Amino acid sequence: MTLGFHNAGFKTSFACDIEPKCKITYDLNFKTKLTVEDLFNISPSYYPDFDVLVAGFPCQSFSIAGKRLGFEDGMRGNVFFQLADILRIRKPKAFLFENVKNLVGHDNGNTFLTIIKTLNELGYVVHHQVLNTRNYNLPQNRERIFLVGIRRDISSAKSFDFPQPLEPTRTIQDLLDTTEPDETLLIKPSHKHYTPIYEGVVKEDTIYQWRRSYVRENKRKVCPTITASIGGVLTLVRQGDIVRMLSPRELFRFQGFPDSYKLPDLSYTQLHHQAGNSVSVPVITAIASEITKHLNN
Ligand SMILES: C[S@@+](CC[C@H](N)C(=O)[O-])C[C@H]1O[C@@H](n2cnc3c(N)ncnc32)[C@H](O)[C@@H]1O
Repeated sequence: MTLGFHNAGFKTSFACDIEPKCKITYDLNFKTKLTVEDLFNISPSYYPDFDVLVAGFPCQSFSIAGKRLGFEDGMRGNVFFQLADILRIRKPKAFLFENVKNLVGHDNGNTFLTIIKTLNELGYVVHHQVLNTRNYNLPQNRERIFLVGIRRDISSAKSFDFPQPLEPTRTIQDLLDTTEPDETLLIKPSHKHYTPIYEGVVKEDTIYQWRRSYVRENKRKVCPTITASIGGVLTLVRQGDIVRMLSPRELFRFQGFPDSYKLPDLSYTQLHHQAGNSVSVPVITAIASEITKHLNN
């Protein structure tokens, strides 16, 4: 999200994540260094001045994949309330929160109602919309809900517009490497599912997913959602005679990171995790540009 906001002209005053390995990648790319800390250990009054609070609270506690525990999911579910505390004490002009699409339906809508009610009571007009990365000129199918809050005393608070879809000009081929792939990415004959994978992954202009027991073809000619955990799911492409996994660089490209974004020497699983955990850069840039219009009022 940092890169998306920088592209829209913002500067970072503070950045935090609980995962130490995020710091390796973040610090390679940004001047403001990442603080590795649990949000619960930072007092809201500690942060330097800022205009916009930007956060993705953990997806697990609200997603179907994470057993739909929501607010009862101990600390993880409660990151939202820690963010609410920051808003209550620091009263920034605006915020942007990101979450999984089904946040709205969680617990028959009660989770979402609580979130909106809490944010309203804190003095924010809240706008929300599900946006798909593939509508922002990036060929990845990724639906996420975005909540934008504008402090109620800002005259334009009620009129926030989410960005309009952009005309697609980039195809998956534009983001895939055609040079000799790294040996470690190849699906080799010794692979447990070699035969069904080679029988299923047939076209070169399509990205496939091996989903534990079968190959799924993406019919829309976009990359399927890049997930944070690999967990038996492989994102695959055919390149001539071979079938291979997407490289970390390709995964980051499908999230909108330019090739100038440096990737450290971390394991494939770790880089996949970081790519999947990030938010698509052009989507954030587009939303941040809309937020700017309200800050200058
Ligand atoms: C979906 S990602 C948000 C997007 C990502 N930070 C970005 O800028 O693109 C959620 C992040 O919250 C972090 N996180 C979860 N619980 C946390 C906590 N208690 N304190 C700080 N960070 C936390 C996770 O490690 C994860 O990287």
